[in-house]
Amino acid sequence: STTPLKVAVTGAAGQIGYSLLFRLASGALGDRPIELRLLEIEPALKALEGVVMELDDCAFPLLSGVEIGADPTKIFDGVNLALLVGARPRGPGMERGDLLSANGAIFTAQGKALNEVAADDVRIGVTGNPANTNALIAMTNAVDIPNERFSALTRLDHNRAISQLATKTGASVNDIRKMTIWGNHSATQYPDLFHAEIAGKNAAEVVNDQAWVEEFFIPTVAKRGAAIIDARGASSAASAASATCNAARDWLNGTPADDWVSMAVVSDGSYGVPEGLISSFPVTTKDGDWKIVQGLEISEFSRGRIDASVAELADEKAAVTELGLI
Ligand code: NAI
Repeated sequence: STTPLKVAVTGAAGQIGYSLLFRLASGALGDRPIELRLLEIEPALKALEGVVMELDDCAFPLLSGVEIGADPTKIFDGVNLALLVGARPRGPGMERGDLLSANGAIFTAQGKALNEVAADDVRIGVTGNPANTNALIAMTNAVDIPNERFSALTRLDHNRAISQLATKTGASVNDIRKMTIWGNHSATQYPDLFHAEIAGKNAAEVVNDQAWVEEFFIPTVAKRGAAIIDARGASSAASAASATCNAARDWLNGTPADDWVSMAVVSDGSYGVPEGLISSFPVTTKDGDWKIVQGLEISEFSRGRIDASVAELADEKAAVTELGLI
């Protein structure tokens, strides 16, 4: 179709935005023209104008228009895809409750605005942290948008897991399929390679090193964000933008027949994850819809890891319920 896809990005003047907008405009979602609708808070609009000048200067053939503003009901008007990246980072002395309420205010308002003005086919991907719980807040406040239209980003964790496995085994990332991230996009997440395949062979059997899985693979993937902050002095941005594009592209265009991706989506009770939590699962996608991959055998080891991360999600849900945000 040549009608432009209307794509909203929030936090567009931030670090991730500085990479994401240029990827989107250069065709990361496919060869359909796109119109960017960029939301920022008032004090960041001037910086955002500078970013838009740079977008103009790229003369991207697929970029049919850019609009910026601080009012979500204007910016989200008619959008087909909303990438919610902007969030309130934890400041000095901020408790978890303060962080949840600050983000709660943002994601309640954005959920309501999307409900009011987004296109009927809207899909909403949440990158801003705490991503799963922010998605839960937006979903709950967008009463007329089907819950299935919301997801939180665990694709960066998924990509990190593939990269670590490729490095360990000497395989190409192209040969790795069926990686899974379960649970929360946080240090409790469970990167699961027991169902993954390397050139068609079971990854755990190829690795054949449970100590590496437990003592290196899982913590390296789960704590990669902190390692990047240590090294770079700033949190991962280009890789987060890349994963945000991967997730959106696959959601809209579908996953290959012999593979799946990780997305945090609303649970229907699959794999013992309480219904209604936004938890990461292995999913396949087709025509803008996702399905949780069913029937995977979960070992006792995996069960414990999944349960621990899901318990954290339940805690976060209880905290935002108590704050009256959902
Ligand atoms: P950043 O601080 O550079 O940019 C965030 C931007 O959001 C700022 O420009 C800020 O003005 C804007 N913003 C704040 N409140 C807003 C609102 N109500 N409406 C619109 N814009 C608003 O942060 P960065 O590095 O771009 O990261 C963004 C978020 O993504 C953070 O929450 C970060 O923790 C998260 N993240 C998530 C990852 C994931 O895998 N899910 C990976 C990396 C980062």
